[in-house]
Amino acid sequence: MSAAGNFHVAIIMDGNGRWAQRRGMPRSAGHAQGAKSVRRVVEASVRAGVRTLTLYAFSADNWGRPSPEVDALLRLLQCYLASETRRCLRNSVRINVIGRRDRLPASLVRAIEQSERATAHCTRMRLRIAVDYSSKHSIVEAARRAASGGLSAQSFESLLAEVDHSVAEVGPVDLLIRTGGEQRLSDFLLWDCAYAELYFTDALWPDFGEAGLHAALEDFSNRHRRFGKVLAETA
Ligand code: FPP
Repeated sequence: MSAAGNFHVAIIMDGNGRWAQRRGMPRSAGHAQGAKSVRRVVEASVRAGVRTLTLYAFSADNWGRPSPEVDALLRLLQCYLASETRRCLRNSVRINVIGRRDRLPASLVRAIEQSERATAHCTRMRLRIAVDYSSKHSIVEAARRAASGGLSAQSFESLLAEVDHSVAEVGPVDLLIRTGGEQRLSDFLLWDCAYAELYFTDALWPDFGEAGLHAALEDFSNRHRRFGKVLAETA
């Protein structure tokens, strides 16, 4: 775990569809099972001392899926916010949904705003859920807003946070996990992952759970992070 105490884990939760198809179930059943896995991993992250957990729930490109699947995913997100906000309050978890809001159903935007308001004072962990999120869109939009003046990387980051509706300074990603066997970033947190350690696992998201999280954290603890420099003992 990070000595700085600001440890940021981001997860691309892949494999819900395959999990369901292997059981002869509709893809939406895989997403419902995936939401249960979200609850387990959020609680395990709190216990493990993770300070920020960012989950990729719905990418801007996911609009291209069949509309029943899109509707099921958006409904699931709304149900999750309705049912989990109280649990987050108990665990002092601050909820923040990042990504675009202008294309989401009004009822989902209201649920997002309610969960964010209710948990705004929580300090133990930040749970960021990326919905209608695209890193490339955020970067282009922040660049458009910045176009008027010379900007430092830091003030560009504040603009990115503003574009994404990110409410707190969360810092870069330390560990990026992707389940489901694929090894790519899929337009997720491209700026924030500049020096992230990448961890890929074949486990499908509904099967990942607390044990999966611990395996990823254990793997991370053996990485040597140099941030483009050389290790002190070899300098
Ligand atoms: C990718 O698996 C997963 C998604 C597009 C959605 C992720 C959503 C959840 C885990 C549930 C809802 C989230 C929250 C925060 C409550 P896939 O459908 O691409 O799976 P496949 O690669 O096996 O087809």
